Amino acid sequence: MIEANWRPGVCMALAVLIVWGCYPKRVGPVGLEGKRLTWAEMSVDQRKAHMKSEVLPRAAELFKTWRPERFASVDCSLCHGQGPKTGNFQMPTPHLPRLSGELLLGPEFEKHPDTTRLKLDRLVPLMADALGKKPFSILTRRGFGCYSCHLGPSGPMFGN
Ligand code: HEC
Ligand code: HEC
Repeated sequence: MIEANWRPGVCMALAVLIVWGCYPKRVGPVGLEGKRLTWAEMSVDQRKAHMKSEVLPRAAELFKTWRPERFASVDCSLCHGQGPKTGNFQMPTPHLPRLSGELLLGPEFEKHPDTTRLKLDRLVPLMADALGKKPFSILTRRGFGCYSCHLGPSGPMFGN
């Protein structure tokens, strides 16, 4: 897909035509060049700060509205497991249940319809927005989606 090769400058020029916008978005703090940083450009410390201010509160809110008792208070370990202790924040992580690897999520919809619907409709868009990443596209099979957090049957999938 051509989009993957677009440079930010070209993006700006085409922004009027391309209503769905350009990725990655500059969601981070202002960098040395005076421009806000993309997620990919951020340092580990900047990423931690961004997780704390942008990702955790929004994700906590979402999980809480879904199951108030179970997710009354969540922290980094919700997604990263032992990460805060070991310093390993790599995603996707074996801390979360492995998914089927099926593109259309058939087994997930069958076994866990509620969480699959919630994640597809709300968690994935929320996370993609917070990270300034393009949401997963079923055509390109790339972008932020289920497999940005979960592993497939035999490891990372869809470019994660
Ligand atoms: C709702 C799930 C979720 C929560 C909660 C969460 N994270 Fe993350 N975190 C992610 C995902 C997904 C990524 C990978 C983003 C990407 O690169 O696509 C990530 C990436 C990171 C990275 C970058 C890892 C790397 O290899 O560059 C760090 C550091 C991090 N998180 C720290 C934290 C901290 C600290 C907290 C708590 C304040 C936290 N995270 C809470 C989902 C979460
Ligand atoms: C930002 C990280 C993140 C993303 C993206 C994500 N999940 Fe999850 N998923 C979690 C966390 C955290 C849990 C554990 C809490 C829970 O039970 O929901 C989980 C649990 C699950 C479970 C197990 C539920 C249970 O009750 O055992 C399934 C199934 C699941 N996710 C499917 C999906 C599907 C399908 C998608 C994509 C549409 C997806 N997830 C996207 C973080 C994520």
